Amino acid sequence: MNENIVWHDQVISHEARAAQKKQKPVILWFTGLSGSGKSTVANAVEKKLFDKNCHSYLLDGDNIRHGLNKDLSFSDLDRIENIRRIGEVSKLFVDSGLIVLTAFISPFIGDRQLVRELVNNDEFVEVYIDTPLEVCESRDPKGLYKKARAGEIKNFTGIDSAYEAPVSPEVHVKTAELSIEECAEQVVSYLVEKGYIT
Ligand code: PPS
Repeated sequence: MNENIVWHDQVISHEARAAQKKQKPVILWFTGLSGSGKSTVANAVEKKLFDKNCHSYLLDGDNIRHGLNKDLSFSDLDRIENIRRIGEVSKLFVDSGLIVLTAFISPFIGDRQLVRELVNNDEFVEVYIDTPLEVCESRDPKGLYKKARAGEIKNFTGIDSAYEAPVSPEVHVKTAELSIEECAEQVVSYLVEKGYIT
């Protein structure tokens, strides 16, 4: 970083912004394979938060790759940069007092840990959308597994690119065993239980 760039504290602090809201700001970090249901469950959770008048924002993998991160590929290095940028954006949203939901494969434990360390201890909640590869592949909503198996897409997560599952996620959601409604409720219940929302 350039030594001539100096951090400037803002008049309204992180704590003051958070205290003004009825909710506790947090990053709900959804991680899981392609087709696991990250976006679907994150959207269902956000709808429930919206209905409770909580102020939230959802950052979704495919959408962010249309804009902010459209210069990034699916190489390991670009995935790392993808998650680093999303982490920084999420930190800004948390600073503004929001509940941020992110839905990215985010395949590497180290990158998710780096995001966790960007914010306060209780401001990162890892939500593991745990759906077996066979189930994701049978759903194949965008036909990408078929293309990956045919060798038409390289570095596809779960096929020829690694996915490192969370070791002790705060919320462990099994979409193959529950309905979308039940999955979303599991996340919302965690937030109520831990006092993020009422
Ligand atoms: S990552 O690994 O966190 O950087 O990926 P992410 O930004 O979440 O983007 C995942 C979506 O991109 C599509 N896609 C691929 N996924 C995995 N591997 C490869 N090679 C790939 N190419 C395109 C895919 O639709 C993912 O969407 P989801 O919603 O996860 O199914």
